Amino acid sequence: MGPDYGRCINQGRVNEPGTPAAWLPGDLFHKHWEIIGLTHAKDPAFVRFQGIEKRFGDLVAVQPMDLDIPEGSFVTLLGPSGCGKTTLLRMLAGLEPPTRGDIFIKGKRINDTPIHKRNLGMIFQNYALFPHKTIFDNVGFGLKYRDVSKTVMKEKVEKALETVRLPGVGNRMPSQLSGGQQQRIALARAIVIEPDVLLMDEPLSALDENLREDMRREIDNLQMELGVTTIFVTHDQREALSMSDKVVVMKDGYIQHIAGVMRCISGWIRSTADY
Ligand SMILES: Nc1ncnc2c1ncn2[C@@H]1O[C@H](COP(=O)(O)OP(=O)(O)OP(=O)(O)O)[C@@H](O)[C@H]1O
Ligand SMILES: [Mg+2]
Repeated sequence: MGPDYGRCINQGRVNEPGTPAAWLPGDLFHKHWEIIGLTHAKDPAFVRFQGIEKRFGDLVAVQPMDLDIPEGSFVTLLGPSGCGKTTLLRMLAGLEPPTRGDIFIKGKRINDTPIHKRNLGMIFQNYALFPHKTIFDNVGFGLKYRDVSKTVMKEKVEKALETVRLPGVGNRMPSQLSGGQQQRIALARAIVIEPDVLLMDEPLSALDENLREDMRREIDNLQMELGVTTIFVTHDQREALSMSDKVVVMKDGYIQHIAGVMRCISGWIRSTADY
């Protein structure tokens, strides 16, 4: 049995599930999904958008759509400025109420669940560290509202800093780190809570090209290592192809196409990138 690539309904028209990228034979594509464990054991609708729509007055930012995100996958929303990527992410995060439709995580409807109870890790374009808090307090911030003892918090923060390869910087202030290091701290802050879903909205756009390339690799590797379901937003096609299992192409608030990407091909695209 092949994987569920997700479904999409655009402007009343039901699209067939997204097809594998043209250069991949179907069998090989399915095999890849099996190898990375996305076909059988895991939930193909770990995150489910069902008939989700967002209007701002007369403007339809997200047209009614259905989208399933499989557990453990790395899904990228790709599309031009204004196509609704951030709005879709903000609805999942609980920062924007949908006009219509439902959102489910692990089968539970979360429309009315407050932000801090959704167990999501979020990273946005401007890494938004608290400038007057130490790195330790920045990373530990999300744990403060959970029932976590000081000892456990210390362990978890240190482990998160190790994961992003910045151990021992807990006492520093954000201004004492480089842009790339600050972005890694933002990543540590997002993963320290062991989120069900990691949301990243153009997290690399503030970095220069070389640093972006390093961070792409790190995010890609880290996601594979942690196996955390990840939704990544970008308008950069190469970025989307270089780090995803599945690319959701959006246009004017609807899903134009969903394509599977083979992760090892992603790595190859990255390694042959000629910046
Ligand atoms: N709070 C708001 N009030 C009114 N309109 C909004 C609001 N937020 C977003 N929009 C509009 O909704 C549409 C989708 O915006 P969104 O931010 O989701 O786009 P995007 O795909 O993330 O674009 P970008 O790549 O530029 O970040 C745009 O036309 C935008 O102007
Ligand atoms: Mg945006």
